[in-house]
Amino acid sequence: MKLSNKITRKEKLAYGIHMLWIENELVAKNAKAGQFVIFRIYENGERIPITIAGTKNNEFRVIVKAVGKSTYELCRLREGDYIQDVVGPLGQPSEIRKYGNVLVVGGGVGIATIIPIVNELKKHNNKVDVILAARNKNYFILEEEFHEVDNLYFVTDDGSRGFKGFAHEMMEKLLKEKNYDVAWAIGPSLMMKACSDISRKYNLKIWVSLNAIMVDGTGMCGGCRVKINDELKYTCVDGPEFDGRFVDWESFNTRLTQYKEEEKLALKKYLE
Ligand code: FAD
Ligand code: FES
Repeated sequence: MKLSNKITRKEKLAYGIHMLWIENELVAKNAKAGQFVIFRIYENGERIPITIAGTKNNEFRVIVKAVGKSTYELCRLREGDYIQDVVGPLGQPSEIRKYGNVLVVGGGVGIATIIPIVNELKKHNNKVDVILAARNKNYFILEEEFHEVDNLYFVTDDGSRGFKGFAHEMMEKLLKEKNYDVAWAIGPSLMMKACSDISRKYNLKIWVSLNAIMVDGTGMCGGCRVKINDELKYTCVDGPEFDGRFVDWESFNTRLTQYKEEEKLALKKYLE
């Protein structure tokens, strides 16, 4: 079995966003839409959870946005380099079946994350409308991979492409005109929360993928716990996808930002 974790291909997709193809037959052969891996670039390195955004033969790909020390390190690796540890596929796969009309929203690097979900939904004969949201027109990635969807909408904060505004505003515009049976929204947590608020208003089930802070990824450390409908869940083993209408967003966002100062310092030191 080919498990070298060698980076066979690397491509810059937008400013600070890179696509890496990695040789690991175990992940490539077993990954399902919605699952993720945890990387450790070198011994004693931080653990980095990243969604599996596609597979081909013995390789899988990830799309990484450099936001802090570890993701900067990951994005600086080159073709031919190796990642020390890759654990996965982890987490529960997306709940894909024939629903009917499905609305899928991808924001920022979440655009890459929704690709396997959209492909599976199409394989199950759903009608799939997709909203791609980005800061401006330069941040749309991999849009050529959405050619099979039924309707594709672009949204930018500054109006440089498509609808000017936020993803949840476009979502509400569509919900006023059309009935959907289920939705997905994957991207920054503020976007997922806003889309979940709209979904609650229209009584529509919405899957969000929670990017909780993770350590072991196996349900042992408790680091990734989230409150769903007043029940504690572990994002790494029970998720990462949950019905966004029932996520306790306030405690989730508080936990997500609890190490902000330390993270800022670590990145500053790394860049010096
Ligand atoms: P830091 O400076 O350490 O942190 C920056 C921010 O990243 C923090 O505020 C926090 O919100 C988050 N973060 C920090 N450490 C962790 C950690 N151990 N686990 C999770 N989040 C953390 N990013 C992508 O670019 N592409 C993806 O496909 C992707 N998929 C993800 C899937 C899952 C299931 C999860 C949980 C996260 C995913 N992320 C993805 C986010 C990515 O893991 C974080 O950006 C990364 O760990 C940040 O580490 P850092 O050292 O670069 O930044
Ligand atoms: Fe430790 Fe989920 S990452 S319990």
